[in-house]
Amino acid sequence: MNEHGGNEHGGIDVDLAQLRTRTSAKWTYGPEDVLPAWVAEMDFSLAPPIAHALTAAIARSDTGYRSTGRLPEALANFCALQWNWSPDPAHMMVLADVMTGIATTLRFCTRPADSVVVNSPVYPPFYSTVRDVAGRNIYDVPLVPDEQGRYGWDLAALDAAFARPEVTAYVLCSPNNPVGSVPTAQELAAIARSAAEHGVFVIADEIHAPLTLAGSLHTPYLSVAGADARAVSVVSASKAWNIAGLKCAQLIASTAVAEELFASVPLETQYGAGHLGVIASIAAFEDGEPWRQEMLGVLDGNRYLFGRELADALPAAAYRPPDASYLTWVDLSAYELGDDPALPLLEVGRVAVNSGPTFGAGGAGHIRVNIGTSARIIEEIVARIARGTTGSQDAS
Ligand SMILES: Cc1ncc(COP(=O)(O)O)c(C=O)c1O
Repeated sequence: MNEHGGNEHGGIDVDLAQLRTRTSAKWTYGPEDVLPAWVAEMDFSLAPPIAHALTAAIARSDTGYRSTGRLPEALANFCALQWNWSPDPAHMMVLADVMTGIATTLRFCTRPADSVVVNSPVYPPFYSTVRDVAGRNIYDVPLVPDEQGRYGWDLAALDAAFARPEVTAYVLCSPNNPVGSVPTAQELAAIARSAAEHGVFVIADEIHAPLTLAGSLHTPYLSVAGADARAVSVVSASKAWNIAGLKCAQLIASTAVAEELFASVPLETQYGAGHLGVIASIAAFEDGEPWRQEMLGVLDGNRYLFGRELADALPAAAYRPPDASYLTWVDLSAYELGDDPALPLLEVGRVAVNSGPTFGAGGAGHIRVNIGTSARIIEEIVARIARGTTGSQDAS
């Protein structure tokens, strides 16, 4: 993708005035002078194969209820190509979104008063889904940063948690949002062993897997845990190809649980997926690879650009480039902006970022910043963060 926005795959095309004409959640947040860098939407133009598939569907008025079509096969082929893993299409179910897959599985595999393990910091709806939708309790096993600042999974603490009688399920965020860590195959093998030993059901949210960046390798949890595991993976084309509004995700179940789990899913849940979402997801998995590769190259550059800009403007900010995705986790606690730096950044800097404390323990003093955009907008985001942090009017 070149800086002018054009290339054979459709281009990055992130003209700010054009972006402000979008009506999605990201671009309708707050007044016009606020620059949004919060919710997980990317600013790049839609991948051309997806745009063509959607345009063709509209042209033939193909807007009825969703069918599954060849989506399971398309996903299975994508998994085989990317990760040398061939999930059985018969063990997949199409749902509206990943959080529906997680909530549905929690209802199946846990009972009221059970505890569900999560690893803070993590995507805030993990907490609300466990507590409110499924009515279960959270048992937090925080991720632990190593000397290089990589947040890793605390395997001993996970094993101890899994051994507790009230713990019956674990929602694993792989790769993790917001810190961008990708669990290694060894970490996953240890988790799978411990889960099997203690009868803990593992729900692997792998929505960010196709956004794994150069230098890291995603390992699908089910490829490690095996057919006899009590486990599911929830995936979607929605993050990597930016089609979250089309509502389509896929639940992949292990052989051991697929039949019983799928039988438990109410019909209205199955029909929550959008037909245009199915059409777009097939186009993404079958024909979206050139665009994805190019987009990953842009994100690879963005994570270092953001780090350089941040180091220049705010040398006391702590930041480690993510190993996956376009969400970054920044520790601003050295600047003493209180628990939630997102508030002064919005007020003074006129930039909307996510509040660290909403991601759970360890989130105080942190922000999550979305860098799925152009270099120019990243520079502007950092300038506004600096203005909101230091109160300086010089940064613009
Ligand atoms: C880790 C994670 N899971 C789930 C979601 C939400 O996905 P969906 O809209 O498919 O429920 C997000 C969105 O950013 C996410 O980061």
